[in-house]
Amino acid sequence: MTRRKTTREIASALVPSPRTMQRHTTNLYAKINLRNRAEAAAFALKGRSMLKIVRSPAVNRVLFGLVVAAGLLTASLAILSATSLYGYGADGAVRHKLASALNNQESLPQSKAELGRALFFDRRLSGDASTSCSTCHVPELAWTDGEALSKGYSRNTLYFRNTPTVINAAKMPLFDWDGRFAAGDFNTLIRDHIAEAHFMNLDGRLLVERMKQIPEYDAAFGELFGSEVSYGKVLGSLAAFLETLNSQDHPYLEYAAGNDSALSSKALSGLALFEGNAGCSQCHGGELLSDGELYALGVPDNQDIFQEPLRHITFRRFFRGFGVSEYVTMRSDPGLYALTLRETDRGKFRTPSLLEVAHTAPYMHNGELASLEDVVRFYNDGGGANPNKDSRIRPLGLSGDEISDLVAFLESLGSRDMPTVDEPAPPPYQPRTLGAN
Ligand code: HEC
Ligand code: HEC
Repeated sequence: MTRRKTTREIASALVPSPRTMQRHTTNLYAKINLRNRAEAAAFALKGRSMLKIVRSPAVNRVLFGLVVAAGLLTASLAILSATSLYGYGADGAVRHKLASALNNQESLPQSKAELGRALFFDRRLSGDASTSCSTCHVPELAWTDGEALSKGYSRNTLYFRNTPTVINAAKMPLFDWDGRFAAGDFNTLIRDHIAEAHFMNLDGRLLVERMKQIPEYDAAFGELFGSEVSYGKVLGSLAAFLETLNSQDHPYLEYAAGNDSALSSKALSGLALFEGNAGCSQCHGGELLSDGELYALGVPDNQDIFQEPLRHITFRRFFRGFGVSEYVTMRSDPGLYALTLRETDRGKFRTPSLLEVAHTAPYMHNGELASLEDVVRFYNDGGGANPNKDSRIRPLGLSGDEISDLVAFLESLGSRDMPTVDEPAPPPYQPRTLGAN
């Protein structure tokens, strides 16, 4: 009944196929384009006067000349660097040059990740230096904050969604509960976290100037990237660090890899239900136990959002920014609807990975379900009320024993030892030497 996954399936599912990633990116851009049509129109208006100049024949000739010159220069540079990499000498010399080039490439990401780790814990990445990534993604709390709803910037601006773990996050095809960033946009997601008023509220130029005033960072960026610190390099380093955060030493993954005794008999019965009668793996499939799609389940709304003024302020500002005209009267998180403004997307959220779900209570986009048993009972009752509810969310008729088996299986989804890292001591600011740029 239970089909064991092969190692190859595990490996291939951990990395979404380029096709899935491309589909998600295209979808997302289509949605964003839809939303930003008005903005684009305004931009085009501004650009029109520029176009008039560019269209004049004299300007065109000069531009053409410049493009040809730039092309020739790039081509000759490419030939020069290719010949120096492969060399013209004896075979041995060529191999040596290639090998050292490859080695450098391999060691580079590792060090970027170390720089990213230091940045992840550094509160100076937020406007008032109160909030680091690790303030909300706390390593000891399975890289979540353990709260139903995030406390937001400075831990007092109050956000309206639950903080997901960042373990395995880099492998997801879509990010955030409403899937607003696609895999190809990982750096944009990180930039959003640093810049957004409700997360870290830091201006990008201020960030770069802060980094330059910390000699250790200044030197590290110089050494790793061969040039000085930039916003993009900060994002790249953080992304490289997140890519190192994966589930490890994990009962379910060990079972999937062939160790029969890794799961208890109750958990095994739960797995059979998960993949069989309870229908969970229809959406929580693949090795991340997520299909990366968005569905409405009818999770009840968390009323704190509408009763706590600061949280409601964040909620209103967020949806106003997305052009949701009814943001004032809205009393439900619309999820994907904010991105597409299509009524059929209201209340849809991304299927989360379940690989660390044993450690990441409370659950769902708004932390409304406190325990894994609450989650299983919610599904067993056929989910909640939503006009767009997926047809697979229907009463399951599970017995008490079956509910506890399914819970036992979900409890096996989590690393035995949480991947944690030593928190680096942040290097202090120091005045820059006069004359240094
Ligand atoms: C104030 C709390 C807070 C801070 C600070 C914060 N995050 Fe988050 N993070 C969240 C919340 C809440 C979400 C979910 C947002 C949503 O879905 O609307 C999230 C989502 C994410 C995700 C997506 C995970 C997934 O499965 O989709 C990643 C990756 C992430 N954060 C990384 C970071 C990094 C890197 C930093 C530091 C630059 C950071 N976060 C700082 C609260 C925070
Ligand atoms: C139609 C697709 C679908 C099916 C079927 C489904 N889920 Fe889900 N699951 C989701 C989505 C989407 C969410 C997030 C919903 C939200 O936050 O509003 C979710 C959330 C969860 C969560 C919370 C994870 C977290 O980090 O907060 C758990 C646990 C879970 N599902 C377990 C199950 C189990 C057990 C079953 C079978 C009884 C199941 N799911 C069936 C799509 C599905």
